[in-house]
Amino acid sequence: MPDSVRQAFVETASVLREAGIETPELDARLLLCHAAALTHESFVARAGEALQPEAAVRLEALVRRRASREPISRITGTREFYGRSFLVDESALDPRPDTESLIEVALALIEKTGRREERLRLLDLGTGTGCLLSTLLAELPKARGLGTDLSPAALRLAEANARRLGVADRASFLASDWLDAIHGEFDLIVSNPPYIASGEIERLAPEVAHHDPYLALDGGPDGLKAYRRIAAGATRLVAPKGAILVEIGASQAPVVAGLLRDGGFLVENDGPSFDLGGRPRVVVATM
Ligand SMILES: C[S@@+](CC[C@H](N)C(=O)[O-])C[C@H]1O[C@@H](n2cnc3c(N)ncnc32)[C@H](O)[C@@H]1O
Repeated sequence: MPDSVRQAFVETASVLREAGIETPELDARLLLCHAAALTHESFVARAGEALQPEAAVRLEALVRRRASREPISRITGTREFYGRSFLVDESALDPRPDTESLIEVALALIEKTGRREERLRLLDLGTGTGCLLSTLLAELPKARGLGTDLSPAALRLAEANARRLGVADRASFLASDWLDAIHGEFDLIVSNPPYIASGEIERLAPEVAHHDPYLALDGGPDGLKAYRRIAAGATRLVAPKGAILVEIGASQAPVVAGLLRDGGFLVENDGPSFDLGGRPRVVVATM
């Protein structure tokens, strides 16, 4: 058993490195903070102190889980998204930093069109943790929104996150197979649908392939199954002056733009918006 917090950190990082974890020091620190209920600041300040035996026992179990490639967020139960903390579990995709680009693009569009002060109606298709809907509601205090998903468990999680972020009074949730159960008009539709081709899922990192729900990843044989459904029917849900923003995989921009045009949308001429890594990430379409 390690004597000090510092020694526990060194030993944990070494175990994780040997297990092939790409960021052993970072992960060791996060697991240690979780096991010993330390903040990042107190971790530094108390590095020389003894690690309590109960914390050491907890840490050992957490390290075993991480070494078997369970994501950190699943182990700690939370994940940061656009500066806010979301509950995560096996029912929904672990929110990704890339998806924050969609928030940036949505807020920039609302700013550009001067609609920030309006009582905007938002729709989030395939809401998962609700990270898109609840973040937008937190950023746009006058907006209201509907989050939909095929998974009832994901909807329960999204609702819990809306309460956690203090936006539940402006959020509602509905089980729907894409657009089937949705009625009404929305000013802004957002979606990060599953877009991995079925045959590629097993080749993804174990953290993704074995821990994110298959329903959240599988885009059918060519990865485009969900976009086809959404693009073919969504014009009836878009209010005048409204827009739809979809996240895409790196090579999917032209074909998704084509599907949206075929469905009756106008797609901006300047093409997709890019994420922080410089990859095409969001397609914006209007009526
Ligand atoms: C890639 S995840 C995105 C989750 C969340 N919006 C995010 O950005 O992190 C796709 C979501 O679509 C949902 N989904 C899959 N098939 C669906 C369908 N037929 N109808 C509605 N939602 C579906 C999944 O359950 C999952 O929550």
